[in-house]
Amino acid sequence: MRFVLGIDTSTTASKALLLDETGRIVGVASTEHTHSRPHPLWSEQDPAEWWTAVATSVRRVLSESNIDPLSVHAVGLTGQMHGLVLLSADGRVLRPAMLWNDGRSSAQCDAMRARIGHDRLVDLTGNDAFTGFTAPKLLWVRDCEPDVYARVGHILLPKDYIRWRLTGEFATDKAGAGGTLLLNLTTRDWSDDLLHALDIPRAWLPNTFEGPEVTGYVTASAADSTGLRAGIAVVAGAGDQAAQAVGVGAVVPDVWALTLGTSGVVFAPCAQPHVAQRGSAHAFPHAVPGQWHMMGVMLSAAGSLAWYLDMMTANVDVEALLDEAARVSIGCEGLTFLPYLTGERTPHADPLARGAFVGLTARHGRGHLTRSVLEGVACGLRDNAQLLRAAGLPPPLQLRISGGGARSALWRQIIADILDLELAVVQTEEGAAFGAALLAGMGVGFWPSVEQACGDTVRTKTDAKPQAASTYDAVYDRFRSLYPALVPYYRAVS
Ligand code: XUL
Repeated sequence: MRFVLGIDTSTTASKALLLDETGRIVGVASTEHTHSRPHPLWSEQDPAEWWTAVATSVRRVLSESNIDPLSVHAVGLTGQMHGLVLLSADGRVLRPAMLWNDGRSSAQCDAMRARIGHDRLVDLTGNDAFTGFTAPKLLWVRDCEPDVYARVGHILLPKDYIRWRLTGEFATDKAGAGGTLLLNLTTRDWSDDLLHALDIPRAWLPNTFEGPEVTGYVTASAADSTGLRAGIAVVAGAGDQAAQAVGVGAVVPDVWALTLGTSGVVFAPCAQPHVAQRGSAHAFPHAVPGQWHMMGVMLSAAGSLAWYLDMMTANVDVEALLDEAARVSIGCEGLTFLPYLTGERTPHADPLARGAFVGLTARHGRGHLTRSVLEGVACGLRDNAQLLRAAGLPPPLQLRISGGGARSALWRQIIADILDLELAVVQTEEGAAFGAALLAGMGVGFWPSVEQACGDTVRTKTDAKPQAASTYDAVYDRFRSLYPALVPYYRAVS
């Protein structure tokens, strides 16, 4: 039996998923990362820690699965998008990586729009400038850390730093490259016009590849660190959302993907590049060669629940908390949670937005708070589904959910109701690592196309059907009214 490996460097952990040539998941190992927020709006990680975590997870999945490491034939990479990793020309990491939920670059987003022209930026890239995207963060380094900027030799995304450690090659995938805001959406390659306008050297950027294309081979020293065989292929893979979409089979326009990870994403495949007015939703290449996608991204989805559990639940079992939440009535007796704990990307594009519990009374207990977090995140997801509909996309026939938050049946039901869409689950919550492994399998000929790989391997089960959609409409309207009402407060406290 031959195997391939999918490696996902997410925000919370680096995961390694082993897949056999029939598409069966043989093992998964995960090693957590630390995360730093040294100033308001900043969000950083140490790339060296990702590499250690990747090597640990790969070694563990190989040994726990009890297979011959020589039978692993290829690796596919995925990971958190938009992160800025800066290396010197001789390969030294110059500062901590600035992540996708880092909100410090508002001034640089404004400067990009002014320099290039908002309409032209959207025409070229398909997107408005969002603070988490790579290019505005690079401009922040140029403005605020000129000593660091003077030493830049290479710009990499998080998974491409792992690729460089594995293969010694500088390369990236086209879906992830879209999230830098330096890619021409139509040609699926770097935009010379933009690079010229922003005075960013092309030589700093890695070459771009389609998801299943081979970008390099595991070096002897990486083989030593990971236990993999030297010389096996490493395919481009994809940014985590496009890989996740492959992992759940969202590779045709009427199947959308919903990810409940730290971020919350509604993802729609498109046969052609499709752009929202003023670039208000993301438009990037898909990991499927020749396809594109649109998505809406909220910054704290399962991240909101993780924060809540950390803050509120010393010595309380998570299952018990969710059971309490299930006994609370829809709408939590007027309690609304706003999930803007790390600002918001879409639809509000506001790094200064903050989270809130609004409407507390002495009648409210822990179950109400827990349920309001689940409902608030689901309302944020509905905002994003509506953003895609407003951009002209027809509603999907099916919405397939994955990510750590998808483990809760209660949350899945709330989401199905608030979005008024039927949800399907697939055989793994690790959709991104699974998708990366499928792309690796294509790279070494297990499947002839991404569509075929998904058709052969992704097992879906219809899960939650809307039962109380109309009851939730008032809950959503209440949620919608709160962000504009709180904007003056956000500005005052920031
Ligand atoms: C996508 C995004 C997040 C990160 C987190 O645009 O910013 O989903 O990729 O993993």
